Amino acid sequence: MIKSENQSLFLKACRREPTSYTPIWLMRQAGRYMKEYRALRKKYSFLEMCKNPRLAAEVTLQPVGQLNVDAAIIFADILLPLEPMGIELEFAKDEGPVFHHPIREMGQIEKLRTIDPEEDLSFLIEAIGVVRKELNGRIPLIGFAGAPFTLASYIIEGGHSKNYTLTKGMMYQSRQTWNRLMERLSEVLIRYLNAQIRAGVQALQLFDSWVGCLSPTDYETYVLPYSQKVIEGVDKSVPLIHFATTSSTLLERMRRAGGEVIGVDWRVDLGEAWSRIGYDVAIQGNLDPVALLGPVGFIEKEVKRILDAAGGRPGHIFNLGHGILPDTPVENVVALIEMVHEYSAKSKS
Ligand code: CP3
Repeated sequence: MIKSENQSLFLKACRREPTSYTPIWLMRQAGRYMKEYRALRKKYSFLEMCKNPRLAAEVTLQPVGQLNVDAAIIFADILLPLEPMGIELEFAKDEGPVFHHPIREMGQIEKLRTIDPEEDLSFLIEAIGVVRKELNGRIPLIGFAGAPFTLASYIIEGGHSKNYTLTKGMMYQSRQTWNRLMERLSEVLIRYLNAQIRAGVQALQLFDSWVGCLSPTDYETYVLPYSQKVIEGVDKSVPLIHFATTSSTLLERMRRAGGEVIGVDWRVDLGEAWSRIGYDVAIQGNLDPVALLGPVGFIEKEVKRILDAAGGRPGHIFNLGHGILPDTPVENVVALIEMVHEYSAKSKS
């Protein structure tokens, strides 16, 4: 019964329309926990895979074939639009992304280029087309980008950071430089997201993964206006999911910045989060990715707890609170998706 259900369940949930069961997809659903992905990675680097439309499409579709997810997410990375801006990017082995020439001065910011996504990121545009064709309407395709703060933190720090000292340093000590960088990033992100819509994505997720390091006041002063500008600048024909982690202190403000759906991590109770942001917005989340390591009985308890917290209200999209971990057993992911479908179908009937 469940397989023949309405194909746009996920989009209905984004619009807070009732669905016969709760849709689910998983952040980082294409990745190292799948043996098919690891096999390809032996032959190609991560960036080579992103930049080859045929491979990017193949990897996007790997979890779709195996997992019965209700949405696909295009295989790419939040850092890709930075390269055509003139910021050199490397994925160092076991280190994650590295920027050898961090951006810290006004002079460097003035030299950054704006991008023409159809030209500069043609591989992504092409991959979106291939995936849409392959999916043939079965499930919707999600596009994405990093939010201005999270991208700024990578290029100022030169990579991942623990305390965001240099990022906050620019904010506090050189407001003009900070504002200029956030403006430049916002312009690029609007272009990048709208190009993905033109290419065929049916929803967007804006990842502000690391913004939880800020106080609510700093978020409001230094970040909210730019996230808002990006969200307002994106074509309203598709819903946007606004996601962050360690953000339970920021939820009302994130909601003000915008998005049809607010994505929450596991550090907050989903029911409490929803009542705080208001039921006139949809919510996505929020299983701890570590729960997927098992046992299955524990996953089941967590699924029921989260679905009960959502209370059967229209507008809940089930997801993890952050990306799936590389050592996750695939069979647990299959079990999770089945549980979410079955349990939510029962409680809605
Ligand atoms: O969700 C999906 O399946 C789509 C693909 C996707 C990737 N990155 C592929 C990827 C998405 C949505 C992202 C977003 C992303 N990238 C974020 C925001 C989400 C989050 O986790 O908060 C961030 C911060 C990045 C930057 C990034 N890319 C980091 C820090 C790393 C290294 C850490 C790691 O997990 O290895 C990457 C690499 C990356 N992006 C991989 C994948 C599948 C692993 C590459 C590999 O070694 O095979």
